Amino acid sequence: MKSTEIRKAFTKFFKDKDHYIESSAPMVLKDDPSLMFTNAGMNQFKDIFLGFERPKHSRVANSQKCLRVSGKHNDLEEVGVDTYHHTMFEMLGNWSFGNYFKEEAINWSWELLTDVFKIDPNLLYVTVFEGDKKDGTSFDKDSFTIWENHVPKNRIIKCGKKDNFWEMGSQGPCGPSSEIHIDLRNEAEKSKVDGLELVNQDHPQVIEIWNLVFMEFNRTAVGILEPLEHKHVDTGMGFERLCRVLQNKNSNYDTDIFAPLIGKLKEMSKMEYLGGEDKISIAFRVVVDHLRAVSFSIADGQLPSNTGAGYVIRRILRRAIRYGYQFLNFKTPFINQLLDELVLSFDGHYKELDAQKEFISKIIFEEESSFFKTLSSGVKRIEEILDHCKLNKVQKISGKQCFELYDSFGFPIDLTRLIASENNFSIDEDEFEKCLEEQRERSKSDAQKEVGDWTKIREDDVQEFIGYDHVKAAVKITQYRKVKIKKDDYFQLIFNLTPFYPEGGGQVGDSGLLVSENEKINIIDTKKENGVIVHFTKELPKNLDAEFIAQVDENARLNSAKNHSATHLLHYALRKILGSHVEQKGSLVNKQYLRFDFSHYAKLSKEELDEIEKLVNAEIRNGNPLIEERNIPLLLAKEKGAMMLFGEKYGDSVRTIQFGESIELCGGIHVNSTSKIGQFRIISEGSISSGIRRIEAITGEEADHFINEKLTTLKNISDILKQPNDILEAVINLQLKNTELNKKIEENRKAVVKQAKLKIVENAEDMGNFTLMYFNTNLTADEMKQISFQIKDKHEKTVLLLTSEMNEKPLISLMITEDLVKEMHWNAGQFIKDLSKLIKGGGGGQAFFATAGGSDVKGLTLIKEKTKSLLN
Ligand code: SER
Repeated sequence: MKSTEIRKAFTKFFKDKDHYIESSAPMVLKDDPSLMFTNAGMNQFKDIFLGFERPKHSRVANSQKCLRVSGKHNDLEEVGVDTYHHTMFEMLGNWSFGNYFKEEAINWSWELLTDVFKIDPNLLYVTVFEGDKKDGTSFDKDSFTIWENHVPKNRIIKCGKKDNFWEMGSQGPCGPSSEIHIDLRNEAEKSKVDGLELVNQDHPQVIEIWNLVFMEFNRTAVGILEPLEHKHVDTGMGFERLCRVLQNKNSNYDTDIFAPLIGKLKEMSKMEYLGGEDKISIAFRVVVDHLRAVSFSIADGQLPSNTGAGYVIRRILRRAIRYGYQFLNFKTPFINQLLDELVLSFDGHYKELDAQKEFISKIIFEEESSFFKTLSSGVKRIEEILDHCKLNKVQKISGKQCFELYDSFGFPIDLTRLIASENNFSIDEDEFEKCLEEQRERSKSDAQKEVGDWTKIREDDVQEFIGYDHVKAAVKITQYRKVKIKKDDYFQLIFNLTPFYPEGGGQVGDSGLLVSENEKINIIDTKKENGVIVHFTKELPKNLDAEFIAQVDENARLNSAKNHSATHLLHYALRKILGSHVEQKGSLVNKQYLRFDFSHYAKLSKEELDEIEKLVNAEIRNGNPLIEERNIPLLLAKEKGAMMLFGEKYGDSVRTIQFGESIELCGGIHVNSTSKIGQFRIISEGSISSGIRRIEAITGEEADHFINEKLTTLKNISDILKQPNDILEAVINLQLKNTELNKKIEENRKAVVKQAKLKIVENAEDMGNFTLMYFNTNLTADEMKQISFQIKDKHEKTVLLLTSEMNEKPLISLMITEDLVKEMHWNAGQFIKDLSKLIKGGGGGQAFFATAGGSDVKGLTLIKEKTKSLLN
């Protein structure tokens, strides 16, 4: 069975059992502060488990793109080393939201595996939860009894909390689980060791394939388990592992998901993939695994960067490049060339990948190019370090230097170790570990965030957002909690309803006031955490039961709305003028300005920018009214040609915002007519990474200020120039005149220098064994140097002393011809130090030429005599 058929068979099985087939949520999360990436199929349903959101369907199944590289489920360093862990993987899952429970979940999993997929039941083992004293949970007898109908008792294993109690993170929904494991060893191996002993022992051939979680609890911030209102089922089966079983392969990497990628990589590297634990095989696996993780993240809109989720992606990609560099002999970008095979292997299941193939490949290429440069600088750096060690007769590279190579040049410690040992050096492993640990501590404290538990003030079923129609409303606080973000304390309040717009779609959250009869509290920000709108304050109202008026800062919101609507017009204009390849790649909208990132491969010309600005302003002047549809079917919106973004999860019904021909799916706040935007000015355009441009622009009053400032400057220039008819012509004339004058000054100075030189030679004094030339004038330091060097080239046994007074500052230069330096051991650099004291200054230089500057011009009269005495 091909992998694409397996995926389809899974969804068909559950569809036939009345499950709604949900599409995969994006892998990169945008509105969950506790998680950067989807790490399990259940993430998108978290709020349903917690009772914050009502499920639309009580039975759901899907295939979810997941990424596990950080946090509680961290697999990055294991990936590639073995044959069954991945960074990005697909999780096949079925869910019951307060509908069926253990009986159906267990029976169906068995039916699917043994009846539909025809897996030999004798290969399977199951585990059930044995209970945990500390948590006060008991043995999962129900699951045990249900399993007894399918599996002999001696193949049902009781396991503890570590393996059979599933939690998404340190807080949140959780519950006991029951896992299905498979023993894929050959008969000879099986006769040696009983499979029972290898379950959960990290054996590459005895692996978990399906995890059935029975969600019953919420783990609070203080670690206590609270029962959930309803009991749910969350199952997750590793798609790649299932394919390996059904395709009868020894490794996930031998399935049709990875084999074509490995084939292409073999062709490109001209190396063999043996599939074992050798470094070359590990490198093959690392590259093909990481390629998927990085490509899907970019497809979801997360580009490699220096912070947050972007940094995780950059690290994954760099790990793949390093392995390719070190073990597959690639010295130039190569990963980007695997995109065709990658896209083919999914057979159109993930449209976002097909549609953005070129773009993803370009971004990866750019990252690779820059990291290859860093790697080659790292090689240079390690050579320097080795030279330095040799010079100092040290045979060990310090841990700090290893850490520098690791941190700044991306050198893994084993690469440094290898290069060191090839040169008969060792490395200070302990010190390196210490540096790593210190870095971990630093990043832990940077990311510190403490979240308290919610305190419920009153029951409220579903919070309502009324901000599209209102900026002010009577509200009640329903829940609150305390959070600490980077050492600052905040309170988060939830209301029964709210006019406050939560940050989203690039637009910042509303700020404003929360007012009761006796209190006035600032709401400093509003965000959506999963499904719920959370208002941030610095203080908690004294009377939480009071009636409040929640009042949005209208002015700030209006300015944000202008910028948001202008962003839609800009998007429209860019596609109209540059072409339909332009895709939105990010945006920021606040009360000051708007920022719009989009895919396009060349710098925008001045003409293009002018045209875009003109088109947006024409749309503004048209006064296109806002046509807002709050609840239209997604399919209808698509038919109307509404712009959608990759990496966003849209529901079945959506909101569309239309101004003239511009129509987008959007949840943001907009002006009711484009004319309210006033005007639109682009203030910058540039590249933020390969293939991505950024435009920053302003609207409304900000644009007025901008233009007014420019006009004032222009007026000031005109006044200074005595208000000519044509200012531009007047400025150009001024410049021409200036060039002419400079030329004249230059000619003049040349004449002065020539004159000075003649005088210097004329007044030369014969001192017996040398000639002393002296001149006091108004030469610049440069001119003094010029004359000194000319005299030095034409005269022998000569000392030239020049003094000058420029803008009331004394200058001295002293030149001694080389023959005198040698014969007399005179040193101008030394002499000048003494001379400079007389003018209250300092100086220095070489034996044949030195200069000094000072602050006391009166001292100049003493210089000649002092020089004579020094030359005695
Ligand atoms: N949440 C469970 C897991 O991720 C089952 O889906 O393994």
